[in-house]
Amino acid sequence: MPQKEKEKEKPRHQVYTDISELPGVGPATAEKLREIGFSTIEALATATVAELEAAGISERKAEELIRLARESIEISWVTAKDLIRLRSGIRRLTTGSKALDALIGGGIETQAITEFFGEFGSGKSQMCHQLAVNVQLPVERGGLDGAALYIDTENTFRTERIEQMAKYLGLEPDKVLERIIYAEAYNSDHQILLLERADKVIKENNVKLIVVDSLTAHFRSEYIGREMLAERQQKLNKHMHRLLRLARAFNAAAVVTNQVMARPDEFFAPMAVAPVGGHVVGHTSHTRLFIRKTAGKNFRIVRLVSSPYLPEGEVLIKITENGIEDVEEEEREEYGRKR
Ligand code: GTP
Ligand code: MG
Repeated sequence: MPQKEKEKEKPRHQVYTDISELPGVGPATAEKLREIGFSTIEALATATVAELEAAGISERKAEELIRLARESIEISWVTAKDLIRLRSGIRRLTTGSKALDALIGGGIETQAITEFFGEFGSGKSQMCHQLAVNVQLPVERGGLDGAALYIDTENTFRTERIEQMAKYLGLEPDKVLERIIYAEAYNSDHQILLLERADKVIKENNVKLIVVDSLTAHFRSEYIGREMLAERQQKLNKHMHRLLRLARAFNAAAVVTNQVMARPDEFFAPMAVAPVGGHVVGHTSHTRLFIRKTAGKNFRIVRLVSSPYLPEGEVLIKITENGIEDVEEEEREEYGRKR
């Protein structure tokens, strides 16, 4: 083979498939990295020097390891033209409602955090269940042909509901349940830890959806009062960035739910409630959807409140035994008359 062609074949950088292959990483360092949640090259590529230093790795070594991991998966400065290629890697997951998919630009996107916020019983957890099933659908049917990772903080995950939704879509319920990797988070520290240790399980199971239901409930009940607000926001911020980094590293969709609290002021007249978590949650969630109950018992209004590039708007969906569905034209008319 001529020399030139040989060079073309060579990858630009050394590619590592496991952290233990990195130069200078012996069993002790590998163990340390795993302990702090960097057991894959993908996750290590998103680490900061300070994070590794906190685990007793020297600054120089930390810089070197992060650099090698980044080169291995080729995260670095890119030109705007490359951005088109990278972004084209973004995929979309169907919500089960075509109207809602259209509102958010074709479905829930990977490499970003989508937040559903609303009152109790508005359907946030139902949406999470539905997405955990839908992610397993083949791409032609709006899925991502992957598994779901489900962090449940309020013990509201129901396997029966998953079975019901799976059957309706013609999927085998047992298989669907096998591809939902579940953990209940007992408190906010546990919730944080679960996500910090998630990279390996995500990689090994081809996880394409990470659900945190609810993102804020533990934080809200544990950090009470003004004195604790700063600490709560800092932890929440870190937790969300971790989630975002996992979504980016593995091209997965991240979906979180959030309760609402009464607004102290009436500034935003049409919305007398506001999502918990303030600016931290707001700025890290790329797409925020406000879901609310209506007079028609199965109907819900989903409003796109914030998106990096789409206009605000709202659609009507319904929650039935089958799951999340579009509202048919006739039903819509009936609903309109009742209002
Ligand atoms: P919190 O977690 O309490 O804040 O509420 P949430 O927003 O997570 O509400 P959730 O998703 O649990 O919604 C519960 C509602 O979904 C119920 O009150 C029902 O209206 C609806 N729902 C749940 N299961 C079914 C079902 O099998 N059939 C129908 N028609 N509706 C259902
Ligand atoms: Mg819920």
